[in-house]
Amino acid sequence: MRPTRRTFCAGLAAVPFLRPGAASAAPLVPLTARHATVQLAPEGYPATPVWSYDGTLPGPLLRAAQGSRLSRRLVNALEVPTSVHWHGIRIDNAMDGVSGLTQAAVPPGGSFDYAFDLPDAGTYWYHAHTNSMEQVARGLYGALIVDEADPLEVDRDEVLVLDDVLLDPETGRIAEGFDNPMMRSHAGRLGNLLCVNGRFELSLAARRQDRLRLRLVNAANARIFVLRLEGMSGWTVALDGMPLAQPIPASGDIVLAPAQRVDLIVDVTAEAGAPAALVHRAGDGSWRALVEVAVSAGGTSAARSAPPPLPPNPRMTVPGADSAEPREMRMQGGAMRGMESARHQGELLDFAALIARGQFWALAGQAGRGDDPFARYERGETARIRLVNDTAFAHAMHLHGMHFRTLLPDGTQGAMRDTVLMAPDEVTEIAFVADNPGKWLMHCHMLGHAASGMTSWIEVA
Ligand code: C2O
Ligand code: CU
Repeated sequence: MRPTRRTFCAGLAAVPFLRPGAASAAPLVPLTARHATVQLAPEGYPATPVWSYDGTLPGPLLRAAQGSRLSRRLVNALEVPTSVHWHGIRIDNAMDGVSGLTQAAVPPGGSFDYAFDLPDAGTYWYHAHTNSMEQVARGLYGALIVDEADPLEVDRDEVLVLDDVLLDPETGRIAEGFDNPMMRSHAGRLGNLLCVNGRFELSLAARRQDRLRLRLVNAANARIFVLRLEGMSGWTVALDGMPLAQPIPASGDIVLAPAQRVDLIVDVTAEAGAPAALVHRAGDGSWRALVEVAVSAGGTSAARSAPPPLPPNPRMTVPGADSAEPREMRMQGGAMRGMESARHQGELLDFAALIARGQFWALAGQAGRGDDPFARYERGETARIRLVNDTAFAHAMHLHGMHFRTLLPDGTQGAMRDTVLMAPDEVTEIAFVADNPGKWLMHCHMLGHAASGMTSWIEVA
């Protein structure tokens, strides 16, 4: 029988309509860079226009299991090109988000699909990596948490993203002048409003002896946070995502440079109603609350025992660091010291000529990312770099793609991190296994410094 139109249609409907490869081509969940307005300043002050991911500041909390794959489609709804860097993830180079090095910047109206594996558990973050000194300062950042299969037992797991914003209190607008030469040649752009998770006043509720995991992320352009626990006692269990072999009591100052993270396990020791807070050292030396903890009755008064270490991530050792030949990276320039000369865009320029081009700093005699990498490594080789801070300022040196260990004077290795803070005149040796092929940026995470000379790169074959 010749099928009527009706049976033909019915027959067709019975066959699931599948495009070839439909499963893999499923559209990714968007992450949209767009304008938004948020209440950053205290109530009563005007709201603040920001650049955001998905309309919030910080952007959405991205959370996934260790060993899984994360994917997002960056949709650029801004008027400027942008890209996303997944800070601290030992990522596939093509997904690293560095415009001009690992991808082209995504134009306004464009999109880019990010998809990558998550080999390590821990606290990471994501942020714009195109004109970062402006885009991060305007709000393009968020936290990325990778969960262990076996997390430590806690009552609450809190992600706290710290930032300081330079705000005009009259208008609520973020101050322009992201490229202010005074700031770029000194300590960087420091804000006048500290906020945590995009809020001026953030408070947590807890009972006495509650155990909290606090995951701190410093998303500020240049501020080094000096923190302490008040009414709480705790341990540091991870730095820059990577678990420590043993928890370390967090009884003194907790120093968090730009881009660094720390995971704390914290027990609330204050009595109900008594003050408890994460406090920070203000410019005048006083300690002020950054995050208040409202302690309610109902908990126990019995102190808890120290937490066990977090399960280690894979590939956390750096063998052969002692015998590896160090390459020296001198950090030069800036106000007060300056430098004689440096190469910039293929030319050797004196300090005055560098300043005229907005280059105040240099790494190993090179201002800004040159055509040639600072070093090339064979895949799997142990790399060793001797960082020498010849400047009068602190810097937070960050390596993309791989975590490193600092080499301590007593011959042991420090914690595994992706960003190390260096005081003026400090010398720090770092070592890492160059096991991630590609072109990896190495730069100061004080973003105004990175934009004015303190950006280098390495290549792993
Ligand atoms: Cu957090 Cu090159 O960046
Ligand atoms: Cu710097």
